[in-house]
Amino acid sequence: MSDNNKKYNIAVIPGDGIGPEVMDAGLHVLTRIAEKFGCDFKTTKVLAGGAAIDATGKCLPQETVDICKASDAVLLAAVGGPKWNDLPGDERPEKALLELRKLLGLYANLRPAMVFPQLADASPLKAEIISGGLDILVVRELTGGIYFGKKGTEKTEFGLAAYDVEQYSEMEVERIAKTAFSLAEKRNKNVISVDKSNVLESSRLWRRVVEAVAQDYPDIALDHMYVDNAAMQLVRNPKQFDVLLTSNIFGDILSDEASQITGSIGMLPSASLADGNFGMYEPVHGSAPDIAGRDIANPVAMILSIAMMLRYTFGLSREADSIENAVNEFLDKGYRTPDIASDGYTKVGTKETGLLIAEFIK
Ligand code: IPM
Ligand code: MG
Repeated sequence: MSDNNKKYNIAVIPGDGIGPEVMDAGLHVLTRIAEKFGCDFKTTKVLAGGAAIDATGKCLPQETVDICKASDAVLLAAVGGPKWNDLPGDERPEKALLELRKLLGLYANLRPAMVFPQLADASPLKAEIISGGLDILVVRELTGGIYFGKKGTEKTEFGLAAYDVEQYSEMEVERIAKTAFSLAEKRNKNVISVDKSNVLESSRLWRRVVEAVAQDYPDIALDHMYVDNAAMQLVRNPKQFDVLLTSNIFGDILSDEASQITGSIGMLPSASLADGNFGMYEPVHGSAPDIAGRDIANPVAMILSIAMMLRYTFGLSREADSIENAVNEFLDKGYRTPDIASDGYTKVGTKETGLLIAEFIK
């Protein structure tokens, strides 16, 4: 049975809000995979975000950084919550996320937005707009642009003024474009690159570099779209998108929109990848403090993030498939967490969802 002799070291960040409970459900599924397929996963829990602030005074303790760097992959559930909202920007839980992305070199953020056929009714869009399914992969640049550009505050004759600079180098655009085109090769061979090149100099550079990279991928169809139009097209005709390539800030906004039109944000995983195989995997949803600790959060996004980790970082596609199949079986058998439940379905909590999906691993 066991053909995986390798040991996989995973840093685990349960974080805040519903983070710890969805992580527990996810790790339960991972344990099941280890038993079934004979893989050796070593998980090490570390602190980041609000939990780390409470325990150590810092949102990202050095120990966490060291353990993440020494691991093969990082699993993160969610960070943040109202408790820490009044802290200065640099000390907030979200800062831990930004620092981790930068320190671990996670420049490529993959956010699949797909409609599960069993949950098609949950989409806020009309049935005819999403009929036949929806499968978009947002590829967002994650360590550059306005998030990490020069920022500051200065006195002016009109009072204080603050600025954040959007800046991209050719190298940064080139590598994320390559990621997008390579992924498109395994999908529907279509990349739409989003920019605002009618206004922004940084977008003009973005577009020029993306076009140059496209020369190396002659079988991929490339289109460009201004970000305002892209926001509109996502609700007007989302099926035209296959791979959606974006900068950091545009991707932040459009990936929320893309996930919402699927109607099941509690189901969507994501990956943040560095060069090589290293990656950090997390659900698209946040820490949802309003429902924390009540065993009602949907752990499927966390569980599918674990499947992504197995596939992208460890190359364990059979194991990843088995998790995805188990999630399908869970849905097919009519189980639903409260966020996706409707009449006639069997309502289950966070923990039970993890147990059921683990049971369906074949
Ligand atoms: C996301 C989040 C983060 C971001 C926040 C929490 C810093 O919105 O992952 O999309 O803006 O990147
Ligand atoms: Mg966001």
